[in-house]
Amino acid sequence: MLKVKTKTRKFRKIADDIRSDVKAPLVEALEKFYKNPMMQFHIPGHTAGRASYRPFKKLIGSRALLLDTTDEFDNLGTLHPATGPIKEAQELAAQAFGAKRTFFLLGGSTIGNLTLAMCMSKKGKKVIVNRNCHRSILTGMIISGAEPVWILPEKLNEWSLWGEIEPAEIEKALKENDDVAMVWITNPTYEGVVSNIKAIANICKKYDVPLIVDEAHGCLWNFNKKLPQSSLHLGADAVVHSLHKTGGSMSQSSMLHIPEGSKFDPDEIERTLQLLQTTSPSMLLMASLDAARANLESKHGKKQLNRAIQYAKYIRKRLHNIEGVHVLEATENFNQDITKVFVKVDGLSGKRLESILEIDFDIEVESASDIGVLLLINIGNTKQEIQYLVDSIEKIAHSNYSDIYYIEKRKHMPMLTPKIVMNPREAYYGDKETIEKEKATGRISAEVIAECPPGISILLPGELITEEHLPYLNEYKYLEVIKE
Ligand SMILES: Cc1ncc(COP(=O)(O)O)c(C=O)c1O
Repeated sequence: MLKVKTKTRKFRKIADDIRSDVKAPLVEALEKFYKNPMMQFHIPGHTAGRASYRPFKKLIGSRALLLDTTDEFDNLGTLHPATGPIKEAQELAAQAFGAKRTFFLLGGSTIGNLTLAMCMSKKGKKVIVNRNCHRSILTGMIISGAEPVWILPEKLNEWSLWGEIEPAEIEKALKENDDVAMVWITNPTYEGVVSNIKAIANICKKYDVPLIVDEAHGCLWNFNKKLPQSSLHLGADAVVHSLHKTGGSMSQSSMLHIPEGSKFDPDEIERTLQLLQTTSPSMLLMASLDAARANLESKHGKKQLNRAIQYAKYIRKRLHNIEGVHVLEATENFNQDITKVFVKVDGLSGKRLESILEIDFDIEVESASDIGVLLLINIGNTKQEIQYLVDSIEKIAHSNYSDIYYIEKRKHMPMLTPKIVMNPREAYYGDKETIEKEKATGRISAEVIAECPPGISILLPGELITEEHLPYLNEYKYLEVIKE
């Protein structure tokens, strides 16, 4: 009991310190709302949790339900157009990230990508895009009718991963194609590989084409100099950040930033977002974005991030010293976000390593491929957890775990260049039929198949299905194809 009290007091002290250090207007507005309850004759119909399923309420706590409200009520402001504390919170986020305008997203970075696609990539125009883009970018092309022009990043064959995007490849694609609506780059990759955005931005400027950077996995960069520089400061015209991935906000909450001098019109972005976002935005999610930004700006949050970077360095060093364990490191060819640690262990596939960590050590990793596992060293991880993680991998490397079951199992991510034979939008809305996978070779895909994580496509609408796709489709019995 004493222990709990001490912890609560310590927690309160940290909360008070942070409050005197940084502002979080939306968190404060929500607190006021909580302290001044009103009789509710409006949505959400669970009425401050009174009509919630009891076991659920017990599980998440009644306060979470009391706080579950949407915009437009109780002086909390509105999201579209941004007013009141929501507007203030977005403005503080823009300042913190160095943007001219920042928009809160409630359907993840996915909504940000769809918005950007609707704003810029018109029907028949081309979008220069890296092969390992997230499926939301493909959805954006289905909506807009744009044509992809693929850029193949470097292949890190030993790791079966995509590497950096060569600026020269972007220039080549711009030279070879008219009608380019924009260049759309993913940076960093899911596994932390960083491309030379400055060089890519300069090329885009030379050709007067906007550059979008899907920086979903790089939202911490602006808060510590030891991390790579954010594309917001390197010449991008728009950047999306999944704050919920590594920034500390709640799942689904993300941000879209428009920097000073961008080719995007922020008012058009706002209008498009209004079409795509929910009309009942969750105050909890929005306040969690305000809170995450405030935490990252606070002394406490800066310490947490600095510690995570130290832990990442420590993990890398320890893992390098274990025989049979290998860690993806930056080379002279590419830079890296060191908080994303991709590890492989000799004799084990990534899937097998993932299952050993989970079953025998109660450790859940971010993702696993045929080759290795991805560990995210987060701002919330503790020293004990880091220690336990490295010790566990060491034990695994020194044991005789076998991998008979997994070795032949489903392959993870194809590193093929999609053969696009039909516009993705036309294929998606075309006449289709569902056929057995074995009969699909030579046919045109009418669907996106991209398993998450990492959400990189195995097949997309308009792509020719070949023998090479089959090992990646073991879990699919049927495929949607264009009718002949
Ligand atoms: C590169 C990239 N962009 C965008 C997204 C979509 O992000 P969200 O899950 O926030 O919608 C993801 C998700 O994994 C991603 O990896």
